[in-house]
Amino acid sequence: MEKREKWGSRFGFIMAAVGSAVGLGNIWKFPYITGQAGGGAFILIYILLTVLVGFTIILGEIAIGRATRANAFAAFNGIKPGFGFIGILGIIASFVIVSFYSVIGGWILKYLSVYALGGSVKTDGFFTSFVSLPVEPVIWMLVFLAICTLILMRGISGGIEKVSSIMMPLLFILLAAIALRAVTLPGAGAGIEFYLKPDFSKITWDVVVSALGQVFFSLSLGMGTLITYGSYLDSRSDIVKDSVLITVLDTIVSVIAGFAVIPAVFAAGQTPDFGPSLLFVTLPHVFETIPFGHAVGAAFFLLVLFAAVTSAISLMQVVVSFFGETFRIKREAAVFIPFVCCAVIGSVASLSHGILGSISILGKNIFDFLSFFASDILLPIGGMLTCLFIAFVWTTDSACAEIKKGAKHGFKLAAFWSFLIKFVMPVIILIILLRVFGAV
Ligand code: TRP
Repeated sequence: MEKREKWGSRFGFIMAAVGSAVGLGNIWKFPYITGQAGGGAFILIYILLTVLVGFTIILGEIAIGRATRANAFAAFNGIKPGFGFIGILGIIASFVIVSFYSVIGGWILKYLSVYALGGSVKTDGFFTSFVSLPVEPVIWMLVFLAICTLILMRGISGGIEKVSSIMMPLLFILLAAIALRAVTLPGAGAGIEFYLKPDFSKITWDVVVSALGQVFFSLSLGMGTLITYGSYLDSRSDIVKDSVLITVLDTIVSVIAGFAVIPAVFAAGQTPDFGPSLLFVTLPHVFETIPFGHAVGAAFFLLVLFAAVTSAISLMQVVVSFFGETFRIKREAAVFIPFVCCAVIGSVASLSHGILGSISILGKNIFDFLSFFASDILLPIGGMLTCLFIAFVWTTDSACAEIKKGAKHGFKLAAFWSFLIKFVMPVIILIILLRVFGAV
């Protein structure tokens, strides 16, 4: 049997895991949700939930992966035969997320190409008329998927790790530079104030629930991504420290992305409550009004592309490792399975902004339905099952023993972590699910 691949270095693993976490969730969703939910107060709640829920589940998932060194399906089955279905759920969810993620990846490529060629997207109808076209967005989506597939063909250390180790540091630098530019624009002050000043009157149950959903999505939890990435670690790795780093870096990127987007939106005389079109409609107005706006726009969409690619490959790798290991197919062949499936579902999702727009499921078009189904239903269910599995099937004692291996300073929080996994997480996740089903 082929020897299982491993990460080349600790830095490489962290960049890959942060690459998975840092994605459209941070740069596209976080600023617009914060914009809609009244700024500072939302950020405080988000950070609290990240520390409590996010960190706890990250550590649990990486521990499952490292203990079993197997794909998501075999990992659950390896600990207790019969529980592989939790992994299968994650594999299905990964397909669904990549499908709509690559549609957005295609839009990003389009915007990047327009800015890089010195063009402009300033007309108001640009976004809506582009996304509803029958052919062009589908082609850009396929290009995005092809880029991801090519990276995955080169494997764990030669593909995912190498690309993440280059793209992530560049993303940090570009994002910091753009945020600095944004906060120093004339008129940005009102935006900074809005962003940082907590307005607790805007905090409703729905806002808390959406913050929790955002924690799951942003940290790539609940569908086997971190199990898969953890499975390429060896037992000398310090997964406590690594989980802290991944959580902190992902949160920092979200907060800085808010600084890059919200003050700029205020400076251009816009408001930050436009929802999903903030990045594609509101922000281009900003690029029109500032000096060297096209260069800034190109840099911005390049960094969003890096974020999207490193997240999409993490989701596709869940699928690749499952098919590769279960059916003993070579990696170069296994990568075509997610490519073809996501190309098909992604095309349908893309067309649902245009010619398939009349098809609606639960009152949503196909694209919105896929996003809702994966993020609001499959993700929390996956997270809940993972916690229950760790708590009552694997047992928190075995999990803590695994976590302690390689942890240089031990795992002082073992008792608290076990308590969270056993009692707090399932209840919190159940609340989200009830809320979601109540809303359907
Ligand atoms: N975390 C990524 C983002 O913020 C998306 C993502 C990658 C993801 N892998 C995941 C979300 C696994 C949920 C589960 O955009």
